[in-house]
Amino acid sequence: MTTVLLTGAAGYIASHTWLALQQAGYRVVGVDNFVNSSPHVLERLGELASAPIEFERADVCDPAAMDEIFERYRPSAVVHFAAFKAVGESVAQPLAYYRNNLGGLVNTCEAMKRHGCTRIVFSSSATVYGAPETLPLREDAATSSTNPYGATKLMGEQILRDLGIADATWQTACLRYFNPVGAHESGRIGEDPRGTPNNLMPYVAQVAVGRRARLSVFGNDYATPDGTGVRDYIHVTDLAEGHVAALRWLLANTGSLTVNLGTGRGYSVLDLVRAYEAASGRNVPYDIVARRPGDVAACWADPALAREMLGWEAKLDLDRMCQDSWRWQQLNPHGFSS
Ligand code: NAD
Ligand code: WQD
Repeated sequence: MTTVLLTGAAGYIASHTWLALQQAGYRVVGVDNFVNSSPHVLERLGELASAPIEFERADVCDPAAMDEIFERYRPSAVVHFAAFKAVGESVAQPLAYYRNNLGGLVNTCEAMKRHGCTRIVFSSSATVYGAPETLPLREDAATSSTNPYGATKLMGEQILRDLGIADATWQTACLRYFNPVGAHESGRIGEDPRGTPNNLMPYVAQVAVGRRARLSVFGNDYATPDGTGVRDYIHVTDLAEGHVAALRWLLANTGSLTVNLGTGRGYSVLDLVRAYEAASGRNVPYDIVARRPGDVAACWADPALAREMLGWEAKLDLDRMCQDSWRWQQLNPHGFSS
């Protein structure tokens, strides 16, 4: 059985990917230091999982800890999620972001190299496209960064490209996620942001459930159909399946890939609010406020390359994303500490 090491395993996207990988027949070993997640995730995964939950609490920046994990489990591939992800925080604390996101990636790759493991799936982001010039976004579109978080994703991709150039035995998959939302259909795992949510759907969910009074819509004067920002929201379960497909590809082929994981459809802030109201049966009152600095008007993927190379495409629509988010939110109004 192929063993896969998941870093950042207790996090939002990784916890869903853990179940998808197990379902696909992989042995999964999770690593996390809980800097942005709760150990309770592991109990919930234990209920849902089709195989035992194997987990090590460790910091991916710690070389000795990573050595021990590689010696003990001898993984054939790594899916590297561990990173900080808040754009605004990265502007305030750039060094923490460079140290954790790039230091963690380099340290993970060094541990892999010492132990003869040369396949890695990397969590990249649509943020590498900066302000899109044309839509939909294909993988060969220009890239740029406007904040330290985005810079860590651009540089992370570069590090992996350089590794492949230096040594052709390395196989890397950079997955550029668009906007991951939703939750596992069981309502037992989902996104549990600490403090005020930065992202739209978790904020809307907390308004719907009564934890917050009103949503602030960041601008309605963009050049979009209703003036609010348009994004390519993708169900986290579809995203998880994208990782399974990428891992399969790495195991069956030589070479590396960089692909978008998106649906190819854009929805506005107000589209999402309406879909959430319908899914939850609750009102989501909102105020239009100023644009959020750094936001782009619209961003959606051309998902054709992932379909061609991986045979993967997103299946779940916006209504389903809202229904599953709502089930998670309603059953766990205070996240994993509910
Ligand atoms: P998350 O914060 O829920 O998960 C990240 C996990 O990594 C957390 O459990 C955290 O505790 C862990 N972690 C962080 N630093 C660590 C370290 N040094 N050692 C061990 N564990 C560590 O975030 P997420 O939304 O699940 O994102 C996962 C990955 O996907 C990240 O790399 C993120 O940048 C990327 N990504 C996320 C989005 C999004 O909107 N959620 C979009 C594009 C890309
Ligand atoms: C979506 C839309 C907002 C909150 C961010 C990161 C990106 C990636 C995903 C990691 C925009 C509007 C939001 C609110 C609002 N992360 N909005 N009120 O900005 O597309 O992407 O998360 O890689 O790097 O930048 O997602 O969910 O924050 O915003 O009106 O309270 O909702 O202006 O139009 P974004 P988001």
